[in-house]
Amino acid sequence: MGESVIPGVHSFKTLGEASLALAERIVEAAGVAIEDHGRYTMALSGGKTPVLLYNLLASEFAGRLGWNSVHLFWGDERFVPQDHPDNNFRMAYDAWISKIPIPHQNIHRIPTETATPEEAARSYEQTLKEFFDSPGKKSFPVFDAMLLGVGADGHTASLFPGSRILGEKSRWVVSAEAPPSVFPKERITLTLPLINSSREVLFLAFGEEKKNVLKEIFEVPEKAKKVYPAAMVKPRERLQWYLEKEV
Ligand code: 6PG
Repeated sequence: MGESVIPGVHSFKTLGEASLALAERIVEAAGVAIEDHGRYTMALSGGKTPVLLYNLLASEFAGRLGWNSVHLFWGDERFVPQDHPDNNFRMAYDAWISKIPIPHQNIHRIPTETATPEEAARSYEQTLKEFFDSPGKKSFPVFDAMLLGVGADGHTASLFPGSRILGEKSRWVVSAEAPPSVFPKERITLTLPLINSSREVLFLAFGEEKKNVLKEIFEVPEKAKKVYPAAMVKPRERLQWYLEKEV
């Protein structure tokens, strides 16, 4: 992690406490971003861990965000129909988005109705390039925030250990395949350089099965960042972890 990045590790006894603290951070960061440049762009994580956070953002925190200026994206998506129980958009929609007054045009889901995951990746990359108004530019856009989870194998978004797409240097969005033990297999994911181009990354990671990989990430970072995609994440400004307190 570059010396300029502000690291932060916040540990809590329960996922509920961590989710509350993270919701507070999102409200604070959104207010600063909207004040500074008129909008807050956040890419969401999938999986099960963020559901509580999404519930909070749909309830007690809903009135503290300027939804007209908040734009939601996804860090990755499973290549399943939008109404499939494993679809990350559906999870966030049911837990949060369907309950808040966010303009429809501020919700930028990864399409999964294309013929192939590669077509979905190309389409989403086009969506991002149009949104960030950089069709021709080579440089990566700057998301205000990326909400990310961590898998027991150290994956994040749909960037899995050993995947060739970890070496992607120019594309913003690519198709990906999960390892044999992880379902759904076919995925679309933001690339590592795009994730690292964001201002702030907010990791939310809870669960017994993640303790070993998180221990390695913090205790042997030089080794971890060669193996675990979650350890390769280094945003421009702030890298914040919301974790389970070691009992
Ligand atoms: C996905 C997620 C993925 C997730 C981790 C943790 O699409 O699966 O984006 O990166 O954050 O797999 O998942 P859990 O929160 O379910 O443990």
